[in-house]
Amino acid sequence: MVRQLTAADRDRLVRHFTALDGDDRVLRFGQHASDHVIENYVRGMDFTNDVVFGVFDSALNLVGVGHLAYLPLEEDETGRTAEFGLSVLESARGTGVGSALFARAGMRCRNSGVTTLYMHCLAHNKTMMRIAGKAGMDIRRDYGEADAYLALPPADSASILSEMFEEQAAVFDYVLKRQVRQADKLLAFLLPVD
Ligand SMILES: CC(C)(COP(=O)(O)OP(=O)(O)OC[C@H]1O[C@@H](n2cnc3c(N)ncnc32)[C@H](O)[C@@H]1OP(=O)(O)O)[C@@H](O)C(=O)NCCC(=O)NCCS
Repeated sequence: MVRQLTAADRDRLVRHFTALDGDDRVLRFGQHASDHVIENYVRGMDFTNDVVFGVFDSALNLVGVGHLAYLPLEEDETGRTAEFGLSVLESARGTGVGSALFARAGMRCRNSGVTTLYMHCLAHNKTMMRIAGKAGMDIRRDYGEADAYLALPPADSASILSEMFEEQAAVFDYVLKRQVRQADKLLAFLLPVD
C-alpha cells in the first residue's frame, strides 16, 4: 500500500534514509550522503509542490520512499516533466515495493498533467534498470549513468478513480496497522510477560 506522506512524516523519512548503507546512498543520491546531508535534504523537502510516497511495514517503519519532483517548464517545452527517485530498505526488497512506488508515481504524473516521468540512476543499478525496462521507459546510457524517460498518456476517469481508491486504501491500511500496534502495547501493559 503506497500512501502519500506529509511534513508530519519527516522524522520517519530521516530514519528511512539513514538506514540505507553507503552503497545504497550513492545509488539513491548520487553521492556518499552523510546523515547530516540526509537530515538537511529531508528538512528541505517540499511537500506542497513535490509529492512524497511511502510504504509502511506492520511496525509502521517506512520501508519504501518515492520522491516525485515537478521540474520547471522550459520555454520551448510543450509538456511537463517530473523526476522520480526511490529507495527501499534492504529488509523489504524483492517484494514489489519499488515497483509499487514507481507505478503510483506514474499514476500521479498522469493525473497531474505530467507528460514525461524521468529517472536518473547509475547504469549498473540492475534493479532500477529492470523497473524502468518493465515500464517500457526509453533508457539512455552514458558514462556509467542512465537517464530513463516514460511518456505518459493523459488522465482519464479510470486513472483518477484508481488513484483515489489506492490512496484511501493506503490510509485505511495505515490506520489499521496503528490500531493493531496500540492494541499490542495495551495488551503488553495489561498482561506483562515476566
Ligand atoms: C532499486 C530499489 C528501489 C528496488 O526496490 P525493490 O522493492 O527491491 O524492487 P522490486 O521488488 O519492485 O523489484 C523490481 C524488479 O527488479 C528485479 N531485480 C531485483 N534485483 C535484481 C538484480 N540484481 N538484477 C536484475 N533484476 C533485479 C526484481 O525481480 C523485480 O523484477 P520483477 O518484478 O520482474 O520480478 C531498491 O533496490 C533500492 O532502494 N536500492 C537502493 C537505492 C536505489 O538504487 N534507488 C534508485 C535510484 S533512483
